[in-house]
Order: sequence, then structure tokens, then C-alpha cells
Amino acid sequence: MSVLDVKVWRGGAEGAFQAFEVPRHASQTVLDVVIHIQRALDPTLAYRYACRVGMCGSCAMTVNGAPRWTCRTHVDKVASRGKLEISPLRNLPIVRDLVTDMREFFDKWSRAKGQFSGTRTRGDDFAQVPPAGEKRKAADAGIECIGCGVCYAACDVVTWNRDYLGPAALNRAWTLVSDERDVATLERLRAVSGDAGCHACHTHMSCTQRCPKQLSPTAAIAGLKRAVASAAIEGDL
Ligand code: SF4
Ligand code: SF4
Ligand code: FES
Repeated sequence: MSVLDVKVWRGGAEGAFQAFEVPRHASQTVLDVVIHIQRALDPTLAYRYACRVGMCGSCAMTVNGAPRWTCRTHVDKVASRGKLEISPLRNLPIVRDLVTDMREFFDKWSRAKGQFSGTRTRGDDFAQVPPAGEKRKAADAGIECIGCGVCYAACDVVTWNRDYLGPAALNRAWTLVSDERDVATLERLRAVSGDAGCHACHTHMSCTQRCPKQLSPTAAIAGLKRAVASAAIEGDL
């Protein structure tokens, strides 16, 4: 049986890589490798996962230098000459080993007004939003985000400016600006128009290239830039 040489980050920000040998299997994922290490070699290894099927967004890590969802990443696709290097996501504080503190990531969703604001009550009929409408299509294009943080870890602007809201929070804001039922558009555009908002994006596209759900935060941010400009011209901001 062939063996993988795996280096795994241990400890906090001042930690170091630890080497393990893991048996290779057909259809093995990077998360399978991490689980094997924790169950068979070192039960103290800290990491997160929940669904194992690409739904929950909790298993993202840095694999051979790139952020990825590990439960859907096959070893065959990423192992370079039988070697894997696994570390926590970039741009987030490390709690321990492969676990990052996601608070600033989700706090930024809140800062970007990532909560739906509607007016209907449960006594009202449900809203009808035609699927072919332009705004509906824009909202649908970004709605499948699983909050994995891969785009956030891929973004150099987040590295340079830790106040920057980042691609996921801005993608969320754009889905709500595009939601015809939402009534907080101006408030949201104000929230995303400051120095830490959509205009800080340098359109590098790393977020879009890396998003495991094939979303385009870059396009969402471009939509926000247009919406902020229109609102400013109208004198609303
Ligand atoms: S397109 Fe913008 S948000 Fe996405 S990685 Fe580049 S700078 Fe960051
Ligand atoms: S936009 Fe994509 S990469 Fe970013 S958090 Fe959502 S699913 Fe993950
Ligand atoms: S474990 Fe849920 S997305 Fe990977």
C-alpha cells in the first residue's frame, strides 16, 4: 500500500508543521487524511468538519498552499509527488492546529448588513419574484454561499487591510441588494461603501477562482460598486 507524506500545522500562530505517514486509498479526500491522523495517529489534533458533503462550509483549510474545502478535495488532485501540507485558513486567527477563529469573518457579514429586512408578516401572502427577472437572477447567482471562508483566505486585500469586509460578506450584501423583498438597500449600500467596503476590492479574482461553489464574489462586488455609484448620483447616500 502506498503512503502519503503529510505535514500538518500544530499549535497556534507560533506553531510548526508535524509530519505523519498516512496510507493512501482510492477516492481519498484531504478530510479523510486529517480524520485518519486524528483517529489513528494523534487524537489531540484539532480540526473542524460537520457534513462531509460540501454543505456546511466548516472543513476549509489550506492544502499545499491554497484554500480548499477538504471534504470535497480528492488527494489525487492536490498531492504533489505523494506529499500534502495542511494548515489552517489564511487571514484568520488560529485557535489551534487546523481550527481558525471565524468570528471576524461572520462579524463582517453583520457589518455589511447581511441580514434580510422585509415588511411582510406571517399573515401576508408570500411574495412572488419571477425567476427570469434581472434582480432575481443576480440574487440567485450568489445565494449558494456556504460560508466556508475559502474566498476570504484567498483575498490579498484582506491580508493588507484587516478591516476590509471581504468577498463573502460583500457577496451576501449583493444578494440582499438584489432581493426585491428587502427594504434596507440604502442602509446596506452605506454599510458597504466606506474605505473597508466594495471600493477596496482590487478585482484580483482570487476569491472567484477559489470558491468551491463556483460563485463570483468579484461580480457581486462589481454590482455593489455600480449600485453605490447610482445611489450617490441620485443623492441618496
Ligand atoms: S476580487 Fe476583490 S474580494 Fe475577490 S480576492 Fe480580489 S480583491 Fe479580494
Ligand atoms: S463565496 Fe464561495 S468561497 Fe466564499 S464563503 Fe461563500 S462558498 Fe465559500
Ligand atoms: S464538512 Fe461540510 S463542507 Fe466539508
